[in-house]
Amino acid sequence: MKLNIERVFDFIKKEDFYLLDDIAALSRDMILSGECPGNDFLGWVNLPSEIQKDLINSIKIAADELKKKSKVIVVIGIGGSYLGARAVIEALSHNFNHLRKSKEREKPLVLFAGQNIGEDYIIDLLEILDDKDYSIIVISKSGTTTEPAIAFRILKNHIYFKYGKEADIRIIAVTDERNGSLRKLSDAEGYRTFIIPDDVGGRFSVLTPVGLLPIACAGFDIEELLRGAADMRKSILDNKTLETNAALQYAAVRNFLYHGGKTIEILVNYSPSLHYLSEWWKQLFGESEGKDGKGIFPASADFTTDLHSLGQLIQDGKRNIIETVLWVENSGRSITIPFDEKNFDGLNYLLNRGLNDINKMAMLGTNMAHSDGKVPLLSIEIDKINEYNLGSLIYFFEFSCAVSGLMLGVNPFNQPGVEAYKKNMLELLGKA
Ligand code: PA5
Repeated sequence: MKLNIERVFDFIKKEDFYLLDDIAALSRDMILSGECPGNDFLGWVNLPSEIQKDLINSIKIAADELKKKSKVIVVIGIGGSYLGARAVIEALSHNFNHLRKSKEREKPLVLFAGQNIGEDYIIDLLEILDDKDYSIIVISKSGTTTEPAIAFRILKNHIYFKYGKEADIRIIAVTDERNGSLRKLSDAEGYRTFIIPDDVGGRFSVLTPVGLLPIACAGFDIEELLRGAADMRKSILDNKTLETNAALQYAAVRNFLYHGGKTIEILVNYSPSLHYLSEWWKQLFGESEGKDGKGIFPASADFTTDLHSLGQLIQDGKRNIIETVLWVENSGRSITIPFDEKNFDGLNYLLNRGLNDINKMAMLGTNMAHSDGKVPLLSIEIDKINEYNLGSLIYFFEFSCAVSGLMLGVNPFNQPGVEAYKKNMLELLGKA
């Protein structure tokens, strides 16, 4: 993974930027020594290096068992108990996985529920599950979140109606070790469970069973994911200064620009399969930084698709945007422009050029245009989409998010603002 911040220096002076070295390095040290606000939620820092082999094995065994008996695995969860798994699974999956025959797929289809209360969504899902063998992974750290609780209650009805007592072994819960209704329910019903560590908050939990179990069920290599994260962790530990530490650079650039009036950051990808990585990133930064009247609004765009919708605003609208481009150098496969004798579309000049190459020219051209349009632009490049690189990106973003929040002067590990809507909704629903 390579971060490039050179273009940002068209907007800020290098010498001013490097004045942030002390505060960035101090924030890094406070996280590593456990002396920052929210320090009871720092368990994610050492997860990739400290995760026990036994735990990895039992996740793999549980995933294999579910895979054997299921064509579909429904993962129920919301926010941090949903987005990380979906980000990794969608990034690594065939773009039309759901349309492949299950034989071609070789792995069960992972579907998601409990991330909304859409009535049509759950009814459509039940219809699909009527004639498919399926299992459920229900994930909630608190064990009391309304959206997944509703989805689980409805799906539980369905799965017991379909399988009777056998449903017990088709349900796995990922939750707190001791507290919450999901823990009580799982203990009472005898469901197999995995634990979310006390000191890991939802949006930092993708490298716990919250993310690892669904990702393993989708057939992906969780050890490679952890290896990528562990190598990124090592690099962050080894590099102590802004000059050499990419996570500190990313955090510092964001903060510098934010104080100069850039209040929106758009994470842009050129590979549609990274759409949910951006969704995960939005939650990570939005919930970690958006508090006490502060915070950059994290937005995302899928290019070139959204160049035909948001492109105008980014190029020419209010100059309050930072653009962070996520580029994948190799797609792993190749398709080139074929010859067409009539050439009505005028595309013969692209004869034999690969699509990733053309996509790259789109990216470079867009970067130039947006820089000319006075949008500070950062880029992050990975060589290809695989478990290792995703693990490394995940840890990179987690660490830089924590540093960025501390530099901003907030506690990056709480989310008091999320309670307001819940309180009103439960009152309106008449909860005692
Ligand atoms: O990051 C967070 O803490 C939140 O987004 C939670 O993950 C989300 O609200 C779901 O919570 P729970 O896992 O307790 O159901």
